[in-house]
Amino acid sequence: PMAKELFGLNELGEKIRRAYNLQKVVVVPGDCDSSPLTKRDLGSAGAKALLGVMNQEDTVAVTGGSTLAAVAGELNPQGSVPMKNSWFVPARGGLGESMEFQANTIASTMAKRVGAQYRLLHVPDLLSDDAYQSLVQDRNIQEIVQVIRQCRIIVHGIGDAMEMTRRRNLDAAAAQEIEKEGAVAESFGYYFNEKGEVVHRMITLGLRLEDIMRTEIVIGIAGGKDKANAIHSVLKFGHENILVTDEAAASEICRQI
Ligand code: BG6
Repeated sequence: PMAKELFGLNELGEKIRRAYNLQKVVVVPGDCDSSPLTKRDLGSAGAKALLGVMNQEDTVAVTGGSTLAAVAGELNPQGSVPMKNSWFVPARGGLGESMEFQANTIASTMAKRVGAQYRLLHVPDLLSDDAYQSLVQDRNIQEIVQVIRQCRIIVHGIGDAMEMTRRRNLDAAAAQEIEKEGAVAESFGYYFNEKGEVVHRMITLGLRLEDIMRTEIVIGIAGGKDKANAIHSVLKFGHENILVTDEAAASEICRQI
């Protein structure tokens, strides 16, 4: 039964890989929404995918979220590739996550676990235009933003758009507007519609859309049946290289392709 199950998962992954023209798709068994064990497996598969592409002197930009926290928790040094000259940085500044799920927290945890370096980006949540304008002038901020924007690898979570507006405490008017714009997915503080077009962006610093488009390796990690539409939308955006997901999301995505 085990072999049969794995064969099924590989098939699901291969179907998704071809449909969205990805380099690699990894599917772990189960549904991470209902099983903490599946979430851990997802984290561990994500950690493996990341270590599999890392070089000795790399810069890796990471987003926040519970899935990325699971990746950080499962990251173990492989031994073969020394990490002391690699850097972990947050992909973008404050997006309104709780402390444990913030990109800064995850970047520093990952770095410590593998003996790499990290730099943090201290930007308050929900920036006003004025605050943004003065922060971009700051020399220290400019310097770390440069490092982030030159990353070779991005590892990010994918969220359901409306759920993320709630989690980020957007006010009702802002959430309604995002819904009206047809957002189904959120990642890096960008909201995407069903066609994979960016319909809304949160004001903060760090990676810009054009950086995401030209980054060599983009790894998306997300699972759970309810995230199928969101994952589809981000894959439609068209700049992912590797997807790590679970059986529940993969089956639902395959039903629609
Ligand atoms: C956020 C990331 O912190 O987590 C987003 O910035 C992502 O890219 C979201 O949409 C997903 O969170 P979770 O907890 O569902 O993995």
